[in-house]
Amino acid sequence: MTIQYNNNSLYFDDIDISKISNEIKTPYYLYSETTILKNLESYTSQLGELNSLICYSVKANSNLSILSLFAKNNTGFDIVSGGELERVIHAGGDTNKVVFSGVGKTDDEIRFALKNNILCFNVESTGELYRINKVAESMGLVAEVSLRVNPEIDPKTHPYITTGLSENKFGISHDEILQLFISAKELTSVNVCGIDYHIGSQILELKPFVDSAKKVKSLVDKLHQNGITLNHVDIGGGLGISYNNEATITRKEYVKELIDIFKDYEFKIILEPGRSLVGDAGILVTKVVEIKSNSIGKNFLVVDAGMNDLLRPPLYNAYHDILESKVINKKSVMYDVVGPICETADFLGKERQLKTDIGELIIIKDTGAYGFVLSSNYNSRPKCGEYIIKNGTVKCIRSREELTDIFGDEKEHLNTT
Ligand code: LLP
Repeated sequence: MTIQYNNNSLYFDDIDISKISNEIKTPYYLYSETTILKNLESYTSQLGELNSLICYSVKANSNLSILSLFAKNNTGFDIVSGGELERVIHAGGDTNKVVFSGVGKTDDEIRFALKNNILCFNVESTGELYRINKVAESMGLVAEVSLRVNPEIDPKTHPYITTGLSENKFGISHDEILQLFISAKELTSVNVCGIDYHIGSQILELKPFVDSAKKVKSLVDKLHQNGITLNHVDIGGGLGISYNNEATITRKEYVKELIDIFKDYEFKIILEPGRSLVGDAGILVTKVVEIKSNSIGKNFLVVDAGMNDLLRPPLYNAYHDILESKVINKKSVMYDVVGPICETADFLGKERQLKTDIGELIIIKDTGAYGFVLSSNYNSRPKCGEYIIKNGTVKCIRSREELTDIFGDEKEHLNTT
């Protein structure tokens, strides 16, 4: 992302944050189209002519305008619910390039996906495979399926976002999967077209990616020996970004290493990146509401965004850089940056040295992925607006919610209880 100070003001993609925030109510998310496209390009340029498909992981940021941007750039989509499929359709995405992951697909969701002719279901269990077969049979269709193997590799990331360990709920165990591939051949309403895996998220080392790819490669060889050929291998997502100057693997390095492992096969390689496409392309803009200190000398910067707007810090103890939107003539103070929610866990950053004041704007960096999508109405707070910088101008892509939006139809039920 391009975020820098110029004449004491913070510019994001050449837009002066302080200026636009006179017109937009804080807190709000602001994304950079240029950064998203640049991130995508760093994948596609390395993939080159290779038989491959990027399926953007919708869960990272599912705003329709973001999905439409990916659709226009010919990506596919990795979805985990009927709702996400509905979003892809509304955004003009090609359902033929959709892979459907997730351990709890309902029969209704399976039917909806079959009707829309998705590329394949990423099957997470034996039971699910038989259920998809049954639903497809009842519709007189054949479902394309990939079986998700759990490679049992430690991705060395936060425990809440590891998915490829034997204790995790995801995928089919390495020991059972060969037999399931063989049994699947007997099912008349599924066609096994691929194998997939995803070991976790915010992974900063190459080794777990390489180890799991090698494990899957030897499985693919075993499948071949058993007469099972595949149309694709889906290597999932998980590539981390640098939130706090951590060393990362570049997108190019990642693609190159993994492609090398599968280069001798004819099949398509599917990738499911989320965070590495949109994470550094977004900021959360918030205003300082109050400054308080306590008797033990702790200083709190109370801002108008809380854990309902950005859950990552309390949920994963995640670090996001925090910047002032203007350089002002104030003493630098060490603050815990906290929100208005009545929870001790409601913090955006701890022990941050900042020069700011009541009414000033504060920017939370790298919030393009798993930011807005994890927001809630806790404490009856309307969800933020979302904006994008496109060709040098700021466009609204979702208005801030009104209180009436969050009441839903509760008022209509007042007299029925
Ligand atoms: N494919 C599958 C099957 C996934 O479960 C995920 C993420 C992805 C792809 C995309 O992973 P990415 O490239 O974004 O790492 N809320 C957490 C992250 C949860 C990730 C869930 N699955 C966070 O804020 O860190």
